[in-house]
Amino acid sequence: MNKAETGEGRIQYVSKFMPVLSSIKKEYSKRKPFKGIRIAMALHVEPKTAFLVRTLEAGGAKVAITGCNPLSTQDDVVSALKASGTKVYAKYNQTDKGYYNSLHKILDIKPDVVIDDGSDLISLIHKEREELIPNIRGGCEETTTGITRLKAMLKEKKLRFPVIDVNDANTKHLFDNYYGTGESTLTAILSTTNAMISGKNVVVAGYGYCGSGIAAKAKGLGANVIITEVDPVKALRAKMDGFTVMPMKEAAKIADFIITATGMRDIVTKEHFRVMKDKCFLANAGHFNVEINVEQLEEISKSVEQITPDIKQYNLGNKILFLLADGRLVNLASTKGLGHPMEVMDMSFSLQALCAKYVLENKLPIDIIPVPQQIDNKVAKLKLRAMHIRIDNLSKQQKAYKQAWDIGT
Ligand code: ADE
Repeated sequence: MNKAETGEGRIQYVSKFMPVLSSIKKEYSKRKPFKGIRIAMALHVEPKTAFLVRTLEAGGAKVAITGCNPLSTQDDVVSALKASGTKVYAKYNQTDKGYYNSLHKILDIKPDVVIDDGSDLISLIHKEREELIPNIRGGCEETTTGITRLKAMLKEKKLRFPVIDVNDANTKHLFDNYYGTGESTLTAILSTTNAMISGKNVVVAGYGYCGSGIAAKAKGLGANVIITEVDPVKALRAKMDGFTVMPMKEAAKIADFIITATGMRDIVTKEHFRVMKDKCFLANAGHFNVEINVEQLEEISKSVEQITPDIKQYNLGNKILFLLADGRLVNLASTKGLGHPMEVMDMSFSLQALCAKYVLENKLPIDIIPVPQQIDNKVAKLKLRAMHIRIDNLSKQQKAYKQAWDIGT
């Protein structure tokens, strides 16, 4: 099989596990809500994303796509999308310059709608492609890190078109961030290292939706999980969920694995590398490669060796440390990482497909807009139906009880 055939096979395969997005694709094929609409997307270019592209195209959109991380693009998927006529500017292991060139190239289609993951695309539009803004009806942002950046833009009154916070939907962060990140991060670490997790000290930095999902899966595999946090409430939750909580300076001394999932920079730095045990594995699950300070790791190392495409060995003299996927998000940047499971991206990308249509059909204020409740509920209902799960409905009396304030003891 050539690259395009392999990529096409993988897109067809994942589509069979994405029933909600499949039903939206069917509806869009009939109604063509994106007729004459141009959509620029910066998402991880992998099979599930390609199926989102195909869904928008089925609805009549002209789509141009690039990656949102230099190491997460899968070239066979790029070839398959190109073969079926999508404008794709993405390549595995792009340089920074190549990455930003690709972002510019997809913007040359003069988009009506943008879909982003991490907000590099939206930030670039506001910094260097302002001429496109009058034509942009709005955008959708996939991830926590992107929303944090957009909130900073909004605070400085720099945001110039509405963006839907897809991450805020319950059918996104309660599933994708928790179960998706949990499973895909551990799967990628296990298959990249071939190391045993059971019985090991796994330090998870950050106990948000992503970190708590990683911690739960690591515990399920038999690890002794330690959490580091800066948020007192999240730290308490971690403790009451049964985990040990301590500062990174202490945790680093006993860690066999350190996995960062905070969205913050400098979580693991030279003060931590210096106290680590021999052969500790370092992996990041956050969107950007700023959580493990790789520059400092290089600075204090006597030598660095690329052991496999995904593992770098740092020799500090008295010990070696292993960095996975250059400190980029391991579940997608490792060549062994397949991203979140298909079933969970079914919900996230259904939200994207529905929110892109919502942006076009509504005059939205320039703001960060929550996903409308009816879209969130629609995705949940379609998912339950696809899973053949039926649930109860409130009776008339129960609905009335919910509205009443005067009925007490
Ligand atoms: N596959 C495509 N986009 C993804 C994301 N944001 N996280 C994990 N897997 C993905």
